Amino acid sequence: MDTDRFARLTAADLVQLRRICGDDYIVTAGDDLKIYGSDETEDLNFLPEVIVKPRTTEQVAAIMSHCHERHLPVTPRGGGTGLSGGALPVFGGVCLSVEKMNKIVEVDTDNLMVVVQPGVVTQTLQEKVEEVGLFYPPDPASRGSCFIGGNLAENSGGPRALKYGVTKDYVLGLTAVLPTGEVITPGGKLLKNVSGYNLAQLLVGSEGTLAVITEIILKLIPNPQYRKTLLVPFDDLEAAAVALTKIFFARITPCAAEFMERSAIKAAENKFEKSYPHSDAAAQLLLEVDGNDLEQLDSQCETIAEVCVECGAIDVFVADSPQRQNEIWEMRRGVGEAVKSICPYKEEDTVVPRAELPKLVKLIREISARHGITTISYGHAGDGNIHVNILKKDLSDDEWDNRLPEVITELFTQVVALGGTISGEHGIGWVQKRYLPLAVGPAELALMRKLKELFDPHGILNPGKLIPDE
Ligand code: LAC
Ligand code: ZN
Repeated sequence: MDTDRFARLTAADLVQLRRICGDDYIVTAGDDLKIYGSDETEDLNFLPEVIVKPRTTEQVAAIMSHCHERHLPVTPRGGGTGLSGGALPVFGGVCLSVEKMNKIVEVDTDNLMVVVQPGVVTQTLQEKVEEVGLFYPPDPASRGSCFIGGNLAENSGGPRALKYGVTKDYVLGLTAVLPTGEVITPGGKLLKNVSGYNLAQLLVGSEGTLAVITEIILKLIPNPQYRKTLLVPFDDLEAAAVALTKIFFARITPCAAEFMERSAIKAAENKFEKSYPHSDAAAQLLLEVDGNDLEQLDSQCETIAEVCVECGAIDVFVADSPQRQNEIWEMRRGVGEAVKSICPYKEEDTVVPRAELPKLVKLIREISARHGITTISYGHAGDGNIHVNILKKDLSDDEWDNRLPEVITELFTQVVALGGTISGEHGIGWVQKRYLPLAVGPAELALMRKLKELFDPHGILNPGKLIPDE
């Protein structure tokens, strides 16, 4: 890593940052440095030298302008739930936490939009708009602690992306601070807008490498009145994947279609000391339909059940009550944490065209067997998006270090050959950047490098992320 291009943080810098934010919003010592040095990515930790907690766009602009002038690295941070190391301050320097920018500025019921600051917890936002019958669908598993700003940075998805789309599909406008300290306000409360390049959307999914987002205008939709949740066990992984693809041939778009293999469910049972129905089945599909017409939902559930049984489902459970539905979703949301608590791991976020899902499931199994490595898969099957956790288990450190890059390279190469890519919703960040050239061609990569330089001439904003080292 080219660390020389950055200046060291000095006492004079701290004086300036204190002047901008106020003494109570600066941390330079104590346990917090360690906490803000990690996110949810493996066991990685890089200490920032200072944590700043601005409350306004103007303060963010002043911080960025100072750091630009001084060539100080700045790592923006949301809820710290990222899975590709996007919030790790790998060069030390300044950790810019948006936690104090946590206001829901306006729920605009005339336009069906909400204006929020980046530090609002996603679930808080969802619950707030539900109070007035509105719906913000993107629901990453970490929705209880992740921030909406981080969701924009990673273009987060979650189960409901299948019917309702991902974060980008709701972003209409932004206020953002460029690495130089300039403020931009692309987009607005507009459902249509072709006035120049779509800079708001360029920032979505840019993993905090191009600008710091300080205010967001999101589209909302009416909240569907009813939902029905189905849990469908299979005694064969690929049969579950085939059933999933066939549900769409029957012209039904569930609002969620999740896949969990046995070891994922077992991990959740162990971690949360609960038992789940048919947890010995090789795989389960978790399906949900929603809408305002109960009869139609019942008929969709029947069709889904028929398709699943034809494809070899062992049984079909329908959960109508919100309590039972919540239990099922809690289990599903806990799977990631449960799997990662087993042993050291590396999580991959493969995505293929949905119709290729059975091939993806098969190739994960083949690669694991051939390399003698344990994998646990689960995820958003309806989006063709499977999280593959590669576990160290009883491999020695050397075996792990040697085998892991081979396994990942092979997995990603085959995923790309299926028309897929290497991350559907967790991003590239720090831990996947070396693999990005497997998925993105040289001309695209060159364009990305140029864009980064254009936005951030001194390379200070979230350095070391997304763009592979040269
Ligand atoms: C999930 C997170 C890991 O789907 O994306 O649980
Ligand atoms: Zn996921």
